[in-house]
Amino acid sequence: MKEQQEIKKVVLAYSGGLDTSIIAKWLQDKYNCEVVTFTADLGQGEEIESARIKAEAMGIKEIYIEDLREEFARDYIFPMFRANTIYEGEYLLGTAIARPLIAKRLVEIAKETGADAISHGATGKGNDQVRFEIGAYSLMPNVTVIAPWREWDLMTREKLMNYAKEHNIEITSKPGKSPFSIDANLLHTSYEGNELENPEVAPSEDMWERTVSPHNAPDKATIITITYEKGDPIAINDEPMTPAKIVETLNKLGGENGIGRSDIVENRFVGMKSRGCYETPGGTIMLKAHRAIESITLDREAAHLKDQIMPKYAEIIYNGFWWSPEREMLQALIDKSQEKVSGVVTLSLYKGNITVLGRASGNTLFDDAIASFDDEHAYDHTDAEGFIKLNSLRLRIAGRKLSSYFTNE
Ligand code: ARG
Repeated sequence: MKEQQEIKKVVLAYSGGLDTSIIAKWLQDKYNCEVVTFTADLGQGEEIESARIKAEAMGIKEIYIEDLREEFARDYIFPMFRANTIYEGEYLLGTAIARPLIAKRLVEIAKETGADAISHGATGKGNDQVRFEIGAYSLMPNVTVIAPWREWDLMTREKLMNYAKEHNIEITSKPGKSPFSIDANLLHTSYEGNELENPEVAPSEDMWERTVSPHNAPDKATIITITYEKGDPIAINDEPMTPAKIVETLNKLGGENGIGRSDIVENRFVGMKSRGCYETPGGTIMLKAHRAIESITLDREAAHLKDQIMPKYAEIIYNGFWWSPEREMLQALIDKSQEKVSGVVTLSLYKGNITVLGRASGNTLFDDAIASFDDEHAYDHTDAEGFIKLNSLRLRIAGRKLSSYFTNE
């Protein structure tokens, strides 16, 4: 057993829900320290002001409640989408990208309030504990981290409920509360646990909260345009919008058309495989649209190089290393690549599908004269003969030397 450290003041990532309310009380009890709560609106779709009343009821004096939606979209979601980031070919990193922002605010508030510790409600089995803590250590090397789920003996639901009752913590069991472990924000909703723990079985339709089933989506396609400037979406249907508003609007359009569901088994950083379901309606549209605008504005080798580093960049974010030199290095490369990525993409949204109908840019590299071979001076067909011959030289040499070289006979 680790010896208990002296703590003066701890900043807790507080959702206002039952679990983190219990944590707030437990921290006061166990460490006999002051607790500062930090509650953020990251677009999870729940009002957050009630967290103040609950925190006050527990005798908490320093209460931070912040709307971080614009910062989240502008400084985290958008930079990530410039890289067409996707983890293991499927996961758009909706939870992973929110954690570094929460970690940053936790330590900033710790510094402001003279706290020496931070605390969070992530369990000891997942990625989120890693992301919060690596983020916090990167930005405040001497901070103490308290992770109650790894420390306390309130491991069963029953023990938690008893603790709540003993300490007069309000148990607001919402009727129809989802049986899944859910994490929601502006970018996605994720579902884990419960019936999802059997990867052979599909979840029931009523699990999904943010998208209609493609079966029930409208029979008519929704046509939209997205305007890009330097790799970021800035307008939808010609209407300029802030970053958070862009994501919100695309979430609505995608959700109505059954876009952005996925059901995957992913590899967690801590070593286990985990089955999760995700709804990322706006993000799924953004990924498709961004690739479309890049397809005419990016040089081939620039585009391919981005594609090569993308899985590494995704892994860095997934594993919680947003605040690291390697992420910043890759970000600089990605951002540099976006200088000419401006223009308009037209899309059709229809029953879970996104189809690109058109793309246009003042910076387009698409040259119809060359592509259609109309301009004889620009593209000399006879150049191709030598190009092909030299590119096949080593293959011809090998083939001549050893006639069975490629057939392995
Ligand atoms: N597996 C996802 C990740 O590591 C989501 C984790 C949080 N989701 C949840 N339902 N608690 O990013």
